[in-house]
Amino acid sequence: MTKLTDTFGRTHNNLRISVTDRCNLRCTYCMPEEVVFMDRQELLSFEEIARFVHAVVPLGIDKIRLTGGEPLMRRDLSRLVRLLVDIPGIKDVGLTTNGLLLADQAQALYDAGLRRINVSLDALDPGRFRELTRRDGVEKVIEGIFAAQQAGFRPVKVNAVSIRGVTEPEVVPLAKFAREHGLEMRFIEYMPIGAEQWERGKVYFAHEIMEQLEREVCPLMPAEDYDPRAPAMDFAYTDGQGRVGIIASVSRPFCMSCNRIRLTADGKLRNCLFALDEADVKTLLRSGAEDEAIQAVVRRNVHDKWEGHEINTARFVKPLRTMHAIGG
Ligand code: 5AD
Ligand code: SF4
Repeated sequence: MTKLTDTFGRTHNNLRISVTDRCNLRCTYCMPEEVVFMDRQELLSFEEIARFVHAVVPLGIDKIRLTGGEPLMRRDLSRLVRLLVDIPGIKDVGLTTNGLLLADQAQALYDAGLRRINVSLDALDPGRFRELTRRDGVEKVIEGIFAAQQAGFRPVKVNAVSIRGVTEPEVVPLAKFAREHGLEMRFIEYMPIGAEQWERGKVYFAHEIMEQLEREVCPLMPAEDYDPRAPAMDFAYTDGQGRVGIIASVSRPFCMSCNRIRLTADGKLRNCLFALDEADVKTLLRSGAEDEAIQAVVRRNVHDKWEGHEINTARFVKPLRTMHAIGG
């Protein structure tokens, strides 16, 4: 069967699945204080998600990441992990979590076959964590990170959004914390996808993060497996103690090597985080459609994919859904 290729020659093998739009944090850059969440009947069941994945494996999808909202708020997520790991053709299932509920679930997730885990943590300082997330719980997140290491996840990656003046003071403490504990730290440039008014001036840019790390932590060199097409620019510290990734979504967009499609918790397909249109697959899944019908919708959606987001141009239009409802 022909692969999922778009008109720019990009092949898509990577599916990000949001399992819920609910979250136990309220990160200011992601969602407003008060949110109306989706009705539970709107959410795809684990069986519906697995059915969708079955249908898209023949199109070349072999890599999956579960996201949210906060995916661990979905009851018994390890059951879904197991369902997905067991689908022939799926090589890799990963998870992006805010870590609050991870301490209790890390072992079950590992045992179900999950192997890649990214924990989002923007601040180690409890006050700043509260400012950013409108909740407490940084100790819980740290506990969750250690529990994941204990359970066998290697490496545990930690993601921090990089906002000028806001998370900037956390860059060095986070980098040092990661080096000390054998974690892979990744800094992500703040993107215009959340609830807040975004301005370019609020992005603490990749080159600034690098300069700060080199000045205050340790000089960097490109990692051995540095891949210029990958979203993260991976660096190793020259003293041999650990590595760090920087995701320059704004200053160095990686759209031309994008291999991702997204399924929202309510069963809509998106060919880009910033897409303005979605294709409905839930109705197909709930009406007992054949795999071919599902595949046709996915093919069309990928075919229609644009060249890339236009964050750096005046044409940029922010999607209607905010991040928690799309899936990070
Ligand atoms: N810019 C960059 N990253 C974001 N995330 C959420 N909103 C934004 C944004 N506006 C990140 C979260 C988490 C992942 C799911 O997406 O911090 O790491
Ligand atoms: Fe929740 Fe993630 Fe959004 Fe923060 S960024 S509110 S953790 S979904």
